[in-house]
Amino acid sequence: MLDIANDIMTRRESNQSLLSDHVDTRPVIADEEIADRNTIVQLDPDHPGFRDREYRARRNQIAQLAVNYIPGDEIPDAPYTGEEHEVWRTIWAALQPAHQRYACAEYLGALQRLSFAPDRIPQLREVNEKVQAISGFRLEPVAGLVQPRVFLENLANGVFLCTQYIRHHSTPLYTPEPDVVHEIVGHGVTLASEKLAEINRMFGRAVKQRTQPEALEQLSRIYWFTIEFGVLRENGEVKAYGTGLLSSAGELKEMREADLRPLDLDAISHQEYDPTHYQPVLFCAKSFEGMYQTLRDFLVRK
Ligand SMILES: [Fe+2]
Repeated sequence: MLDIANDIMTRRESNQSLLSDHVDTRPVIADEEIADRNTIVQLDPDHPGFRDREYRARRNQIAQLAVNYIPGDEIPDAPYTGEEHEVWRTIWAALQPAHQRYACAEYLGALQRLSFAPDRIPQLREVNEKVQAISGFRLEPVAGLVQPRVFLENLANGVFLCTQYIRHHSTPLYTPEPDVVHEIVGHGVTLASEKLAEINRMFGRAVKQRTQPEALEQLSRIYWFTIEFGVLRENGEVKAYGTGLLSSAGELKEMREADLRPLDLDAISHQEYDPTHYQPVLFCAKSFEGMYQTLRDFLVRK
């Protein structure tokens, strides 16, 4: 037992820098054993909520909503606690000024259309109503883990598979896995932009057309460095359109330190990334329109 405890302590200490403000944005976990969208997450011993029985019970309860969910039905509301709404308030207070400074105009427009309440976590049901009316996309809950191919192929049908739980209240600015904040503030908002929603659909179609694992790997990387971590130039400044950046004030601030490279899909195809840290390399488009055309040309052609 002591050895295990020591091991957990060491891992926690080595993760201290992450606890400042980081969202682990991997949309999926590539585990071949995970066969469908109903797999319930088992928390690691170093997860911030591992020792909180109440939190784990609520996570399972929320995951069960996803397991019971029938695609196309209205999504049941998640039973968030006061503490969890407080987490949202903390994140929101940090994000608002960061968005005004670092988010691209397309994102800010979409954010305004969704007009979230600052004091409580929006329910997926509410976000869906607005997003569907704008782009036809709908969010559907998943228990936690989805294979990359399942996740990406659903985009072709205008379906974004997303988690509904929120990170543990002890670390409001850090989550070791994507949570409802990343899903809504990142993806939900960008899907309220017709053009960004269209790019998501094109990713889905491109994945469906390719059966080779290498092709999936290539598209996953391009998705990562654009939809998740894309930046572009706007009036001479670097602005974010990537959901991983836009769902964390820390990520937005840190993007100024990144090694910015021109948006080159071939280079991206060969670029490794680590979802557990701030991204040291980002690919920057010359403009929103330039990014849209580059991705469209590539995804439609293939
Ligand atoms: Fe994401």
